[in-house]
Amino acid sequence: MATGTSLSHVFPLGSRLNERGRLEVGGCDAIELAREFGTPAYVVAEEDLRTRARAFTQAGRDSGHSDLHVVFASKAFPCVAVLRLFAQEGLWCDVASGGELHLALAAGFPAQRTVLHGNAKSEAELRMALRAGVGLIVIDNFDEIDRLARLLPGRAPGAGAEQEVLVRVTPDVQGATHEKISTGQADSKFGFSMGDAAEAFARVEGVEGLSLQGVHAHIGSQLLDLEPFRALAAELSGLGDFPVWDFGGGLGVQYTEHQAAPPPVEDYVAAIVGAANEHGIGADRRLLIEPGRSLSANACVTLYTVESVKQNVSRWVAVDGGMSDNLRPMLYGATYEAHVADRFGGSTRCVVAGKHCESGDVIVRDALLDDPRPGDVLVTPATGAYGFSMANNYNGVTRPPVIFCSDGDARLVLRRETLEDLTARDVS
Ligand code: LLP
Repeated sequence: MATGTSLSHVFPLGSRLNERGRLEVGGCDAIELAREFGTPAYVVAEEDLRTRARAFTQAGRDSGHSDLHVVFASKAFPCVAVLRLFAQEGLWCDVASGGELHLALAAGFPAQRTVLHGNAKSEAELRMALRAGVGLIVIDNFDEIDRLARLLPGRAPGAGAEQEVLVRVTPDVQGATHEKISTGQADSKFGFSMGDAAEAFARVEGVEGLSLQGVHAHIGSQLLDLEPFRALAAELSGLGDFPVWDFGGGLGVQYTEHQAAPPPVEDYVAAIVGAANEHGIGADRRLLIEPGRSLSANACVTLYTVESVKQNVSRWVAVDGGMSDNLRPMLYGATYEAHVADRFGGSTRCVVAGKHCESGDVIVRDALLDDPRPGDVLVTPATGAYGFSMANNYNGVTRPPVIFCSDGDARLVLRRETLEDLTARDVS
């Protein structure tokens, strides 16, 4: 592959092969990053995150709708530095637990710009949200209404007379995606059935101190077709007239060069705004969208070091990470690319396996690599969504650091876990 060239947009914006034929992310040489920070490591191009955030907010403005807000689904990359950057860019933040709320507040999101989700919110989480003064609580079930009614006296003084809430419904609109990340179907663990929505509205309205603002639905994740989003707006619009409409997240991304690209962000936002208008959701209404993956996935690459190479039936290339830093191939059969970071291209068909004691711990099944050898740095692009957040300590493996790169400067924003971290909670 030619050097000094830019790479496919599966890689972070601005990535290229430098004159030495090495991958550069955010102006930083991947081999030098591996040397300085060790591997595995999540390497994030800061400008990429900012550019994507701005593309969403700009698309909102261009859609002609004056009150559309982009709510980052923090579960995609709940790292304080990532959240801080999105807070600076003026986004809102979707949190799905007390832990994510804690991270969002630590990152500097004003509580008013946070939206609390969850199908099993605990009393402690609701109490925390009320005390912090979150902007919206998205109510999932009848038990939660009762629980909130009991807890309302704990609401932050000065946070306004009433807690604003949305009611989440399951609109039976499905997009083509993996079963485990499809949420819109009628029989889902999330939200009220459409048939129960009216009763949910009435019960919320009956609680003094709660203010029903509107409805929410999230139909699924990694969707590459806009039609389900239009269908969602049509379905929700039949539920009544509300000041706030939250259409969830779900816009997909491209993980490998050979996969289909998602529609552009402008088309996605225009489709939602267009369908909302068409179905009578007026221009004076507040619209929320909750992108996660489409804001962060392609901003990050993971660097690994090859530990061993062997030829059984296949050529097995074992690296120093795996299912502890990227569970997606194992959970969803997700596909990724792999490249030797200083020798892109190649024709040796390899299986890139992780270091974990499990046969399923395979990161890329069919990688074409340039004769990989122990010590080589391997890179997998598009790991900035649901990699870090689903990382774990299987086999006592410590979780990788997060490194921000910008204009040739590399900055450690979250350190690697240590062996001491692994025993830090032991009180026996
Ligand atoms: N809003 C709500 C209420 C959600 O449940 C989700 C994702 C999002 C927004 C953001 O969806 P996105 O724009 O990222 O598609 N671990 C899985 C993804 C699970 C998504 C769960 N909810 C994966 O790695 O594919």
